[in-house]
Amino acid sequence: MSPPNSRPITIFDTTLRDGEQSPGCSMNLHEKLEVAQALVDLGVDVIEAGFPITSVGDFEAVREIATTVPGATICGLARCRKPDIDRAWEALKDGSNVRIHVFLATSAIHREFKLRMDKQEIIRRAVESVRHAKTYCDNIEFSPEDAARTESDFLCEVVEAAISAGATTVNIPDTVGYATPSHFAGVISNLVNRVPNIDSAVISVHCHNDLGLAVSNSLAAVENGAGQIECTINGLGERAGNCSLEEVVMALRTRNDYYQMQTNINTPRLVPTSRLVSNITGMIVQRNKAIVGRNAFAHEAGIHQDGMLKERTTYEIMKPEDVGFTHTDLVLGKHSGRAALADRSRALGYHLADAQLDAVFEDFKALADKKKEVYDGDIAALIEQRNTQIADQWQLVTYEVQATNGKTPTVTLTLSRGNQEYSTTKKCGDGPLDALFMAIEELTGKSVVVRDFRVQSATRGKDAQGESLVEVDYNGQLFRGRGASTDTVEAATRAFLNAINRIEVGVSESGRRGTV
Ligand code: KIV
Ligand code: ZN
Repeated sequence: MSPPNSRPITIFDTTLRDGEQSPGCSMNLHEKLEVAQALVDLGVDVIEAGFPITSVGDFEAVREIATTVPGATICGLARCRKPDIDRAWEALKDGSNVRIHVFLATSAIHREFKLRMDKQEIIRRAVESVRHAKTYCDNIEFSPEDAARTESDFLCEVVEAAISAGATTVNIPDTVGYATPSHFAGVISNLVNRVPNIDSAVISVHCHNDLGLAVSNSLAAVENGAGQIECTINGLGERAGNCSLEEVVMALRTRNDYYQMQTNINTPRLVPTSRLVSNITGMIVQRNKAIVGRNAFAHEAGIHQDGMLKERTTYEIMKPEDVGFTHTDLVLGKHSGRAALADRSRALGYHLADAQLDAVFEDFKALADKKKEVYDGDIAALIEQRNTQIADQWQLVTYEVQATNGKTPTVTLTLSRGNQEYSTTKKCGDGPLDALFMAIEELTGKSVVVRDFRVQSATRGKDAQGESLVEVDYNGQLFRGRGASTDTVEAATRAFLNAINRIEVGVSESGRRGTV
């Protein structure tokens, strides 16, 4: 509970826009809607849902989220160009609580080499664009891109002009992650002290993590007058990513004594949201990641364990349950019913429709027969596997591989499609997985190049499910597939088949974003 004098800080989440820009992190519409709903449950104030002019996929996602996900302001990004702004508005216009975010680079490097515009032209464009956006909507955010490397006098001039033109939020990006905390504190306090109309807008910050300083820089900014932090789940984003939502929120909460600021974030939703985003994007959270990493609350050293047993606060500054780690990790078994599964799925951050729940329940029963203890991670893996399955496509029926070290394996594989079964037996590949992948390619008629392949355990124990992620290149486009099973070879085979099915329906990870 924050003290009554705490200053409110707006949390602007850009996982679906800047986060999605990181290589291999693109999401389909269904996945974006799921993340948007999870962000609302988490309590974020603003969701940047996409950059509508860049692709039909982004446009549709912004439109769907603006019209079907209530509970947060939905924002669409646009460059300072009329067609961008019109397209952003087209996507947002049916939503009840929306914001247009326009941006234009202001630093000397960007002016000279990227835009080839002088300072006066930048101000003219920024003003014209904010005014144009304002004809559609009151809630306008303006970002001088690469603000942290912009001359301080010119930054003040641009910000003042954008506010006069109608910007209600001015966002100060450290686009290339160049700032350091005391430098960035100076950038913000300079604006607070020198821009005459600064009180008419909220100052926002958007820090990239190239030097690992995004969270520190964001905290330095709010200490000096910023009122909004732009951030992403798990710190996803361009290159080294953005300010991590979970870290900055927990810093403000844990050190409320120092910052005296509060957010609307429902912190026990942090871990489920982090897991959801990691599962959907395939970006694995490092074990020692602050707040949401698996080891974030694990105490290994004897002295620490002894201290913890005597008094938790000797070595713990936050409670695991405050960020969403539960002690009831072992939850379900073969006697658990559909209601218990529905309840656990909700707690893990998944909103399953009745038909989805039925399908996952079927998988759960099969798994519970094989495995005594079904953990949260197992349930998440089953849900994710179902989420990525594509109806009426290739299904795995059976396989058998004989592989001996140093000899070419022999594989027999049966797949089905609709009511028809297809089988092959062949001697091929340089290992069991290679052989299975080649047999799948033969039966489906799709030839691909594997670009990434990973297997990790969904939970602990010898009988843990393996979760596999495969990324394949098909005619220059990337497709991702996911699979889970207690048998890692089967998990990988399912993941590869899932990627093939995605090729068939054109759910690609690359090439969806047009050039801007
Ligand atoms: O990093 C950046 O400058 C951005 C802007 C579009 C805000 O992402
Ligand atoms: Zn950015």
